[in-house]
Amino acid sequence: MGKRLISLDNIVILVTGAAGFIGASLIVRLLRETTGSRIAGIDNLNDYYDPALKRARLDWIEHTAESSDSTWEFVEGSIADVDALRGLFSELRPSVVVNLAAQAGVRYSIDHPDAYIETNIVGFYNILEACRRYPVEHLVYASSSSVYGGNEKVPFSTDDKTDSPVSLYAATKKSDELLAHAYGSLFGIPATGLRFFTVYGPYGRPDMFVYSACEKILAGETIQLFGEGLCKRDFTYIDDIVEGVVRVMRGAPIGGEGSSTVPHAVYNIGGGCPELVIDMVSTLQDELVRAGALSTSYDAEAHRQLVGMQPGDVPLTFADTEALERDYDFAPQVSLREGIRRFVEWYVTYHVGERCDDGDLSGEG
Ligand SMILES: NC(=O)c1ccc[n+]([C@@H]2O[C@H](COP(=O)([O-])OP(=O)(O)OC[C@H]3O[C@@H](n4cnc5c(N)ncnc54)[C@H](O)[C@@H]3O)[C@@H](O)[C@H]2O)c1
Repeated sequence: MGKRLISLDNIVILVTGAAGFIGASLIVRLLRETTGSRIAGIDNLNDYYDPALKRARLDWIEHTAESSDSTWEFVEGSIADVDALRGLFSELRPSVVVNLAAQAGVRYSIDHPDAYIETNIVGFYNILEACRRYPVEHLVYASSSSVYGGNEKVPFSTDDKTDSPVSLYAATKKSDELLAHAYGSLFGIPATGLRFFTVYGPYGRPDMFVYSACEKILAGETIQLFGEGLCKRDFTYIDDIVEGVVRVMRGAPIGGEGSSTVPHAVYNIGGGCPELVIDMVSTLQDELVRAGALSTSYDAEAHRQLVGMQPGDVPLTFADTEALERDYDFAPQVSLREGIRRFVEWYVTYHVGERCDDGDLSGEG
């Protein structure tokens, strides 16, 4: 499918989920690299995980904005609030919208289904309607590797069937792809969905395994390894994700002939190299020792427990990233070892500061 090139300088860009892990990292990159743009973010700062981390990310953005050639503004609000969202679009008239706001997480959806419908379905529908009323050059939105469900064919290709989700989260993300396709077909909204694969790195998400495993290791707790430790994940470092998102933002799909008349595309964006979760944990432990956060005498084996699969979990994720490489000349660059090292460096700095504030310096290492 052809692409229409978009310069990210001197335009208005709206990022939803701006205080989230990927949103904040993306905005920092945009502030560093664009000129003359008005960059706006919206986030409802909900407490799915500690909002203090979301505030810390906003501080990071503010700090970056001070020396940026573009401007930054933040709105606290929900994409599920149709009036607020329309008001924002009417005022900003964004050229490029990146929708990252979502209720994320697979396990949380079992007890909190409403949050998924509200943000991932109603909120995304509101984004599409706003893009219809206030036309945009490109809507980029987050989908997820979870749409592949229990796919056994590897690597996962966007040509594979994705109509058997095994979690509500996955079902909402697949629904977003369908809604975006329908809006592209009906109203010509150029949109690209990105299926992210297990993103990790500085300012990461505490509900995700790399972060929670780090917390547990440092607290001297036992780490549960689901799927008897044999699950594999296509871990993707945050800078690689941001690089991929920026490249995609710059190239909006153009409808063509026949079945590709709809200006809508979906890509995988992953590391393309799945690792056993148990190996990731070993790398994490090594790097914590290297950073001086964990004692060299730490007994890794004694702190691991092999357990079965959890509802909604999948044994393997593995991205086929050929299409992204072909269309956007993008390939991930950061190895798991290097990415974990950078995450640990950030984690230690961030949490040591936090512990000092609390006067609590307990914990291993
Ligand atoms: N991190 C990953 O590994 C991963 C993997 C697959 C897909 N994704 C998707 O990528 C996107 C970004 O993920 P993330 O890791 O940054 O998650 P995140 O939870 O850190 O960020 C999402 C942000 O959206 C905000 N938000 C939630 N509901 C909102 C609403 N109704 N209105 C406004 N803001 C709202 C949250 O407060 C949060 O700050 C999400 O759509 C997620 O589903 C992430």
